[in-house]
This record gives sequence, C-alpha cells and structure tokens, in this order.
Amino acid sequence: MLNIPRRQNALIMIGFVLVVGQCYFVLQRHNVRQLAVVKMFLTHPPNYPKYRDEEIFNIVTKRDLRPNTSTPTSTGEYYELMERYAQDVLPDTDAPFKRILFWNEAYGNKEYGVGHGRNALRESGCPVWQCETSDNRTNVQEYDAVVFHLRSWTRNDLPDKRSPHQRYVFWSIESAAWRFIDTNLMKNFFNWTMTYRWDSDIVSPYGYIKPSGGVPLHPTHEQMKNFLSSPSPINYAEGKTKIAAWFVSNCASQSRRNEMVRELQKYIDVDIYGDCGTMVCPRKREDDCRKMAGKKYKFYLSLENSLCQDYVTEKFFGMMHEPIIPVVVGFHDHHEKIAPRHSFINVANFEHIKNLADYMIFLDKNDTLYNEYFWWKSHFEVRNSQQDFNKGMCHLCSALHDKTLSPKIYKDMNEWWDKNATCQTPEIL
Ligand SMILES: *[C@@H]1O[C@H](CO)[C@@H](O)[C@H](O)[C@H]1NC(C)=O
Ligand SMILES: *[C@@H]1O[C@H](CO)[C@@H](O)[C@H](O)[C@H]1NC(C)=O
Ligand SMILES: *[C@@H]1O[C@H](CO)[C@@H](O)[C@H](O)[C@H]1NC(C)=O
Ligand SMILES: *[C@@H]1O[C@H](CO)[C@@H](O)[C@H](O)[C@H]1NC(C)=O
Ligand SMILES: *[C@@H]1O[C@H](CO)[C@@H](O)[C@H](O)[C@H]1NC(C)=O
Repeated sequence: MLNIPRRQNALIMIGFVLVVGQCYFVLQRHNVRQLAVVKMFLTHPPNYPKYRDEEIFNIVTKRDLRPNTSTPTSTGEYYELMERYAQDVLPDTDAPFKRILFWNEAYGNKEYGVGHGRNALRESGCPVWQCETSDNRTNVQEYDAVVFHLRSWTRNDLPDKRSPHQRYVFWSIESAAWRFIDTNLMKNFFNWTMTYRWDSDIVSPYGYIKPSGGVPLHPTHEQMKNFLSSPSPINYAEGKTKIAAWFVSNCASQSRRNEMVRELQKYIDVDIYGDCGTMVCPRKREDDCRKMAGKKYKFYLSLENSLCQDYVTEKFFGMMHEPIIPVVVGFHDHHEKIAPRHSFINVANFEHIKNLADYMIFLDKNDTLYNEYFWWKSHFEVRNSQQDFNKGMCHLCSALHDKTLSPKIYKDMNEWWDKNATCQTPEIL
C-alpha cells in the first residue's frame, strides 16, 4: 500500500467525493450506459470500501473513449429470450411438417449446423422440431423457408420461382465488419434475419449466460457488495505462474486487436499461441488449450476480430467456463448485458493500455481482488454448446408454424445489416 500523509489522504477523499458527485450529475443528464466513467462505478459500487483505494482509483479510467453508438434497443436480460425459445410449443399438433431449404454453401456443406431430414431438428434437441430440412432445390417455391448464407449469396444463383408464403431468411454467423457481399443488392429480398444480433427476427447467438438460481445477472450495488466481500471458496489464483494468454490465428483484423496486444506487451507478458505468436498449445483440441490457459494464466484476451453490436463469440463464452478472467474489448455494452457484473474486464473502460496493464498487475498481486471476479461462478450457467447454438434453428421451425406472424420484408438490407451493426475500428491508446 502507498504511504500517504494524512492531509494528502483527506485531499484525495475530497477529490474522490467531487468526482463521484460529478458523475452522478452527469448521470442525470446523459444515458448512463454510454459513459465509461459511470460504468466504472457500476462495476465497482462507489460506496464499496476498497473502491476508495487510491491505486484502483488512479488506474481505472476517468475518460470515455467509446465512440458514439446507437442506444441499445433492448435493456432486458438477454438469456430470457433463449429460454423462451427453449419453451416453444407446436400450436397445432396435427400440423404438417414445414420445409426448410438450405440454399447455398456454408463452411463446406449445406447443413447449417443441423443437417438434413425430418429428424434433424429433433436430434438437435428442438422443442418444436416438425420441420424437414434439405438442400434439394427441386420445386424451390414449395419450401416454407429458404435460408441463404450471406457469405456465399450471389445474384447469379437465386431461386427462379418464389411464392408469397415463403420466408427468405438471411443467415450469418459472422459480423457485418466483413463486407463479403454488397447488401445493397438485397433490397426487398429477405423476410427474416437470423444472426448473432439480438435484433434479428430469429436470434442465434454464440452463447448466453443464465442464472441457475435466484441471483440476477445484474445485482444491485448492495447485493454486489455482499457477493464481492464474501470469501471465495476457491483460490482461483493458486498455482498460476503467468499473467495473460491469447490464442489467435488471424493476424490482421478490423478490431485492431493485434495492435492492442502488442501495446499491452510493452507492460506485461502476454503469451500468444498460434500463427501470430511464438507459443504452441501442446494439444490439438481447443478445449484442452482452454483448460491449459485456465490453469496457468490469470487472464485470457477474449478479443473478437471485429467490434460490432452483439458480436460475442466462443472466444468469450468458451473461456467463461474456465477459472480465468476474460479481457474483452466492448464498445457496445453487449458483454455487460450478456454476462454477470464483475465477471470480465473491458478494455474500453481504460484510458490507456498502460492503465489496463497496471490494473491487471494489481489484480495479479492481490488474490482477494482477483478472486472477486469469480463471485458469479456458482450462480450461473454458461450456455454455448452446439445444442444451445441450434436454438436459433429450432426457433425458425417454430416460427414457421406460427400462423399469427404477419408478412415482413427487409426493404433495405444494407441499413439493417451494415449500418445498424455499428461496427467500430478503435484507436489504440
Ligand atoms: C488485497 O486487497 C484487499 C481489499 O482491498 C486488501 O484488504 C488486502 O490487504 C490486499 N492484500 C494485499 C496483499 O495487498
Ligand atoms: C458524440 O456525440 C457528442 C454529443 O452528441 C458529440 O459532441 C461528439 O462530438 C460525438 N463524438 C464523436 C466521436 O462523434
Ligand atoms: C430432390 O427432390 C425431387 C423431388 O422430390 C426428387 O425427385 C429428387 O430425387 C431429389 N433429389 C435428390 C438429389 O435427392
Ligand atoms: C416475403 O418477401 C417477399 C418479397 O419482398 C414478399 O413479396 C412476401 O410477401 C413476403 N412474405 C412473407 C410471408 O413475409
Ligand atoms: C436501424 O436502427 C435504427 C435506430 O435504432 C432504427 O430506427 C431502424 O429501424 C433500424 N433499421 C432497420 C432496417 O431495422
């Protein structure tokens, strides 16, 4: 701890009170979630004693660097929608099978993660599975849904006949930062969207985090105080000899994560595994590598290849299973919505990469503070199995059986997919 003379201590306290006051003043006037400085107070309640620690106070950001983004449309807890999907029921048990055509190639086949036939969705664990999936283009106009993989969509290969009852579904698991196809060519073409974005017609995220008991994802300050101050049953720091790890194969990306990590490496050791680094994970299986990281490292850099609204992949969810703190870059508050409070570190909350490094070193030195980041482990389930991922496809089937849904047309796919994705390219400070 720093040795600070009394008078100076008092001055710091006064300064602190002024800053808190200022924040609440700002908070009255602006959208709370848009301000990093305010968010910092949400993750560390202001009245929480250790928050007054001079060191943390200096380390944590005081300036909002996040670019302007559209206000999130949903403030609800994300997992609830997925849980509703899991409870879909077939309205009419005598209803004939609906038919879904997977039109074009997606990652080497036309199975779209579920395969073909009348049992594909049943085997995927869908509550409503009465849909036949296929890649047989004969009589395309008779299918109830035709699903197009954005990445291989082309104007030269589209159905020659279309019926008004059919739903053309826009399917992508990648972010809008990759301009594979000019979506301006897709005017008045699609009826539904099915992507990782939570404003899709059929939401199909990489994962979600669900309370397993009565504890909400975003407890109140009072509740947080109790959770964080109760001693951790496990010392998650024990036996860890290294600070940070990163697995990466794509060496250039729009999120500028490589630049960020290089900057971080000026201050702390970051072991980079894979094509862009010097380390090799001893096992081929990703799961084993994650386990290895969870055993040896304090932090894992869960960095996406692009920074777009709701784009959170297995890089995050996979690591949330492990005893390690994910470090994310999130300008859109989606990690905050999807994950429990105080379960990860968001780079966007720091003024400078050096501040982030200082904070990581600080946690590395104090097991009590490190362990606080795991308070949530016994209260939540991380859901990102293949079956969880397929919930989107399940819901597509159930939506096709829903006679109450009115027709819908995406007049301007470019607005929905590209513009409203609000992808960012950050400045690395
Ligand atoms: C770790 O932080 C806690 C809470 O602020 C504090 O009580 C404790 O003295 C610190 N331990 C060390 C070793 O600095
Ligand atoms: C963000 O919005 C504020 C107010 O609406 C504006 O003053 C500021 O210049 C904007 N910043 C950027 C980076 O566009
Ligand atoms: C596709 O469907 C048509 C019509 O049902 C059928 O005649 C044809 O054999 C099918 N093709 C394949 C490759 O299964
Ligand atoms: C689907 O979109 C097409 C083309 O815009 C439109 O003609 C049709 O009515 C829509 N169908 C449904 C069921 O939404
Ligand atoms: C894009 O986002 C804006 C602002 O949230 C919304 O008003 C608009 O309807 C969205 N566009 C589409 C095509 O959904």
